[in-house]
Amino acid sequence: MAAPRFAGLLSSRSASLDDVLDGLRAGRTFDLSDGTGADHGLLDHSLQTAELLRSSHPDDLALQVAGLVHDIGHMLPPHRDDAHADVAAVFVRPVFGDRIAELVRLHVPAKRYLVTTDPDYRAGLHRGSVISLGQQGGDMSCPEITAFEAEPLFGDATALRRADEAGKVPGLDVPGLETWLATLQSQQLR
Ligand SMILES: [Fe+2]
Repeated sequence: MAAPRFAGLLSSRSASLDDVLDGLRAGRTFDLSDGTGADHGLLDHSLQTAELLRSSHPDDLALQVAGLVHDIGHMLPPHRDDAHADVAAVFVRPVFGDRIAELVRLHVPAKRYLVTTDPDYRAGLHRGSVISLGQQGGDMSCPEITAFEAEPLFGDATALRRADEAGKVPGLDVPGLETWLATLQSQQLR
């Protein structure tokens, strides 16, 4: 499905918080469906992911915001699974800074890490995640595992990715985007 366009696609300037909000709102109608007929709208999935992190890491607002914006790259060119994490990191870095951008960038490597090292995680993957795994590089090699475990954000990146996979419950009622405005503003670069 083609992603709706939004103001943040302007390439002549850095993104703003308003662009991030526009992208998330546009994601309301962007289907992350896994082919089973389940409705996984990008905004709904993003809100579920962030809410899980709000519960598990109540003092880490940056991690929660990273969970909220981690998939915004699906709304940006080149609209490819294998590029969406890197694209999103570039997009959000001028808005929220390096930690949030790196957490967003690492959510695909974290998926590859968890799939490779945790059989239970692999067994619980949604069908769409299995399909995209191949496009994202598949299992990690031993050197890749060692390098990923040395990442300063290793623990937080895997926490985000576990919430990412769990945040795909069709129809689950979670607080809306408006409940995140103050948190988003608090994490904005000054
Ligand atoms: Fe996601």
